[in-house]
Amino acid sequence: MLTIIGSGKVGGDAALFSALRRVDREILLLDVVNGLPQGEAMDLNHMLSEQGIDVKVRGSNNYADMSGSDVVVVVAGSGRKPGMTRMDLLKINAGIVKDVVENIKKHAGNAIIVPVTNPLDPMVHITYKTSGFDRSRIVGMGNMLDLSRFTQFIHEATGYSRDSIRALVIGEHGENMLPLPRFSTVSGAPLSSMLSKEKMDQLVQDTRQVAAKVIELKGATVHAPGNAISAIVEAILKDRKKVIPVATPLNGEYGHSDVSIGVPAVIGRKGVEKIIELDLDSQEKEWFDKGVSGVKAALAGI
Ligand code: LAC
Repeated sequence: MLTIIGSGKVGGDAALFSALRRVDREILLLDVVNGLPQGEAMDLNHMLSEQGIDVKVRGSNNYADMSGSDVVVVVAGSGRKPGMTRMDLLKINAGIVKDVVENIKKHAGNAIIVPVTNPLDPMVHITYKTSGFDRSRIVGMGNMLDLSRFTQFIHEATGYSRDSIRALVIGEHGENMLPLPRFSTVSGAPLSSMLSKEKMDQLVQDTRQVAAKVIELKGATVHAPGNAISAIVEAILKDRKKVIPVATPLNGEYGHSDVSIGVPAVIGRKGVEKIIELDLDSQEKEWFDKGVSGVKAALAGI
């Protein structure tokens, strides 16, 4: 069973996309707000009935109902308001995530946890430390969303099908995120063979800044995060061995330990099955390390 804790716009969209991908036969939506998860579940079940998809969505306000969950997505907490950075949410959301993870430990002790709440990377590490789960079972969704945006910008710049583009973003899901043109391709051809360095640098900047623009225009990001969550859940529950960037605790990889941040990894039924170490150049390593420093500073401040 898939449980999604937090039944607001992103949690509801994650349930919708997960159901359409048929990741599991049952999806549980949890929230502290009475009626919200129940209403969301009813609305989704009505949509699924017309689609002829036999995925059952339930809503509950009771943590005990997540018993037996294979995957638990944590979206609970406050989202950014226009003008805020993700890190501005640190103090508000740290306590919420700790409480949620204590309940996952109590009611769904064998689950793989997919943290989403911002600031993502510090919340991933708090989840790891609070749960006491093996690090392979902590699979944070951040860079999967960033690469969705990087892909869109490459699509717009080249005019090539989104399906031909394989973009990569790693590092902090924040101001220091690291889109990687050198490791991004269009049908196997390196991006550098079709775009100038200036253009690629612009796309990197655009990727870093676009979420704030969406929030300024519509108040929140919803469909792209909801979809990115479902892509990770699908890779886990369908044991796809998909290589995607996820935020997870490091133990020496990329030269860092005792921190969680986005890295390319093989994702399957056991969660993070292998972390892939890329041969970053000095400038890429500098950006990655900047992200690590920011996450460690945030954790020290809690
Ligand atoms: C975003 C939020 C989910 O990037 O961090 O849209």
